[in-house]
Amino acid sequence: MSIEINEKEQLFALHTPETSYVVGIADGLYAGHVYYGKRLRHASGAYLMRTGQHPFIPSALKREKGTFMSVFPFAYPTQGVGDYRTPALQVRNSRGMRGCELHYTGYRIDAGKPALEGLPATFAKEGEASTLTLFLADEVIGLEAELRFTCFEDLDAITRSVVLKNTSGEPLYLEKVLSFSMETDNAEHFELLSLSGTWARERNIIRSRLDRGIYSVGSVRGESSQQENPFTALVSPDCCEDRGIALGVHFVYSGNFIAEAEITENDMVRLNMGIHPGGFSWKLEPGASFTAPEVVSVYSCEGLGKMSRTFHDLYREHLIRSPWLKRERPILINNWEATYFNFNTEKLISIAREAKKCGIEMLVMDDGWFGRRDSDASSLGDWFVNEEKLPGGLKVLADRVNEIGLKFGIWMEPEMVSPDSELYRAHPDWAIRQPGRDPVQFREQYVLDITRREVRDYVYEQVSSILKSANIAYVKWDMNRYLADMGSLGLDADRQGEQMHRYTLAVYELQERMLAEFPDLLLENCSSGGARFDPGMLYYSPQIWCSDDMDVAERLFIQEGTALCYPLSCIGAHVGASPNHTTGRVAPFITRGHAALSGTFGYELDVTKLSEEEKALIPGQCADYHRFHHLAADGDYYRVASYRENREYDAWMSVSKDKREALVTFIQVLNRPNFRSYRIFLKGLDPEAVYRLEESGSDGGSLKLSGDRIPGDVLMYGGLLIPRLPGDLKSRLIYLVKE
Ligand code: DGJ
Repeated sequence: MSIEINEKEQLFALHTPETSYVVGIADGLYAGHVYYGKRLRHASGAYLMRTGQHPFIPSALKREKGTFMSVFPFAYPTQGVGDYRTPALQVRNSRGMRGCELHYTGYRIDAGKPALEGLPATFAKEGEASTLTLFLADEVIGLEAELRFTCFEDLDAITRSVVLKNTSGEPLYLEKVLSFSMETDNAEHFELLSLSGTWARERNIIRSRLDRGIYSVGSVRGESSQQENPFTALVSPDCCEDRGIALGVHFVYSGNFIAEAEITENDMVRLNMGIHPGGFSWKLEPGASFTAPEVVSVYSCEGLGKMSRTFHDLYREHLIRSPWLKRERPILINNWEATYFNFNTEKLISIAREAKKCGIEMLVMDDGWFGRRDSDASSLGDWFVNEEKLPGGLKVLADRVNEIGLKFGIWMEPEMVSPDSELYRAHPDWAIRQPGRDPVQFREQYVLDITRREVRDYVYEQVSSILKSANIAYVKWDMNRYLADMGSLGLDADRQGEQMHRYTLAVYELQERMLAEFPDLLLENCSSGGARFDPGMLYYSPQIWCSDDMDVAERLFIQEGTALCYPLSCIGAHVGASPNHTTGRVAPFITRGHAALSGTFGYELDVTKLSEEEKALIPGQCADYHRFHHLAADGDYYRVASYRENREYDAWMSVSKDKREALVTFIQVLNRPNFRSYRIFLKGLDPEAVYRLEESGSDGGSLKLSGDRIPGDVLMYGGLLIPRLPGDLKSRLIYLVKE
């Protein structure tokens, strides 16, 4: 059991192998944040809450209670009673008054980790984690709060979530319910790192200096979004891959979120994370509870690299439930950029035949197979096969694809409806809208109000009957617009603020039902590229489409940012066409393959139109995937060089847990006139071992490494020399194995 209690000082310490998270009770009433950092030997440090100094605790100096409230480092800060910093909890009572003061009433410790009903969350058995619950209450308004903290036995991760219960006889209105809050000294020691972007440029790493005021990132778009990811990290200014402090927080949720860092008057930093309060309110009836989703935090004093590896291990071992997690995913070919909407059975069969010859294992039919969908202007919601394109329907196509020797998968966008669809004409009231207002369209589509049971059940029946109609091994579940015009016919006026959160819960319920009925289905979530790439989705799908941008140079930014907190095994990555459809950039086939190998791997191009030389490279790439996949999927990931930083080249590697094997990917993005070869410093190897190096899948370049034997310490401390190749976007794949 890694939770230690110091009864005398009223302290609770959650210990992980190398970190400790300590909360304490001040004045017998107030739950405060004491410490988060390197592992402490004992639950100690109550003085860090400064309750022995000015400002005095309320029981000692009632006339200055406001001063105490405005500086105490609350573990779960509330609003309205003297704390002017940005709160985690805002409550309005039925008289319309806002004010909440939570007092400690007790604690409980559980082995393992309780589930969060209806929500994705990390899981752990007894022996793998322990959970501390602090019970707090405001007797004036009748609200109970359970603050749950879980620490993992073998990973430096802590999770937090909150359950609120109305114990009064009147409704309460929750206006802001975050899941994580902590406050620490020396704000000047930190910068803030976020993953920001837009369509086709998702999750680029942004690092910002913090100064007085509130810095926040978030989404109010009804999904976790392309613009910001529900991740942020406080990092020390010296923090780099291998050194410095990185404290990352990640929200296991797929809807609106906020992460806020406030630098206070006393140069402390309060870090909050949870559901975005913009437009949110939740009516809590007497006796009812509200569960806030989970935040995962990871503290590393060995830089960003260690933080990333902890997130990767945590998600692989304790979040992704799919049976596909540990299986090699079939190498797929997706027809989206090959055909867009212009395809029929024969075209797909010709792609499947050619793909099979090259070693590809699954054909995924993307958008355009249903209703009258020849463009994105119609038919969402009409989930019946377009027999003009696919005579005989899905079963005929799936059977033919299976006969060729490929698995078959499809695309769906179940949450949406086109204004031009039979479904919309029959049920215009099913679209999210406000009476009297023409709802805004994105991509000529509306959002179905799946918060309504009858709509949700209808959607589920459509999905289920499609999946039952043919041998479908894989589904790409897409979502191509943001939510707007919030309004639900299924909710009373004082519950309209619940719709965004209820929407996210409805998506979870739909996917949970689907996976219960089709447990072996390989699900890939997607949202207009990577707009719903978040840990919440990982609970349902072992992989998520990363971005519509398959351009190698852009992908380096996107995949570097994504791998900051997501394991490579979940990053949907394909070899796209050249020139690239998004940027128009030309890149060698080999380089496109090397970039995609550090993800789920597949192709998104018309294989029937490739040159013979390019086609001839595919079997080798497929073989590389099978040969090296275990390294990317189960190994430790190290960033070796960043094109974002050096504007010339990029390199990363995956090392097996036993350090016996490693795979280095090197991409020379922009060649520069320089006779010196690149020197990259490998990481994570056994310094005492000798490694045999072998180059794989290159264009027969000049590296001449195969067979070289180099000690691990030389590779890590002295470096590996990589000669320059003529031209841009050239790449190397180097396999290392212990002698
Ligand atoms: C957005 C996805 O990201 C694409 O891969 C493709 O599936 C389109 N939607 C289809 O409409």
